[in-house]
Amino acid sequence: MIRLENVSKKYAVGGKDFYALRGVDLCVGEGEMVAVCGRSGSGKSTLLHIIGLLENSDGGSYYLAGKEVSHLSAASAAKLRNGSIGFVMQDFSLINHRTAIYNVKAPMLFNKTPFFEMNKKALEALKKLGIEDQAYKKVENMSGGQRQRVALARALVNDAPLILADEPTGNLDSATASDIMRLFCKLHESGKTIVIVTHDSAIAANCDRVITISDGKII
Ligand SMILES: Nc1ncnc2c1ncn2[C@@H]1O[C@H](COP(=O)(O)OP(=O)(O)OP(=O)(O)O)[C@@H](O)[C@H]1O
Ligand SMILES: [Mg+2]
Repeated sequence: MIRLENVSKKYAVGGKDFYALRGVDLCVGEGEMVAVCGRSGSGKSTLLHIIGLLENSDGGSYYLAGKEVSHLSAASAAKLRNGSIGFVMQDFSLINHRTAIYNVKAPMLFNKTPFFEMNKKALEALKKLGIEDQAYKKVENMSGGQRQRVALARALVNDAPLILADEPTGNLDSATASDIMRLFCKLHESGKTIVIVTHDSAIAANCDRVITISDGKII
């Protein structure tokens, strides 16, 4: 499903190149659930952004479902992402002055889903996360844990085969975190490919494989 070969990513910091990823090789098979662990600043989010086509790499190759996607235009990347990848960002990236249901519907606004179906699917996704009663509340008036679940509902709503989640339980109490973990296990059982960045050892223990990243390299 995912194959990275010698992928690097650099940022210009103070006029100098800083490599956030240095020569990453990674394969994730279809249906696998993989945890990415590592210290703060090691490159986990950068790696997930590249896998999720939110950023291009600066070197190496990326194949997604057999197709070379390292040099896609922003428009082609967005199109591919919308149909095949559900993403939970570390900062949630929600539209805060809009309602929960609007945010969950957002990915469908780009694929011409009929209005009633959009509403139905969004409510179902919110229900899966146990917050359908918050559907018409503005995100800015929600708690951190509720926002996190809105972000998760949005990632699931298009039924994408690949789910990428950056610290999906970072702001949740342990009971809610285990609910979310069970949801990921169900998604895994239903055949989805899942990559989760996490500090939570309970989540890592539920994955098929744990990848550790240190200073931009997989160790
Ligand atoms: N846009 C950017 N410009 C410059 N440097 C960046 C940028 N994004 C990330 N970095 C740097 O790249 C390195 C990796 O960042 P990344 O966000 O991938 O870390 P992380 O492993 O996700 O950390 P955390 O656990 O704190 O979320 C860090 O040193 C960070 O400062
Ligand atoms: Mg991060």
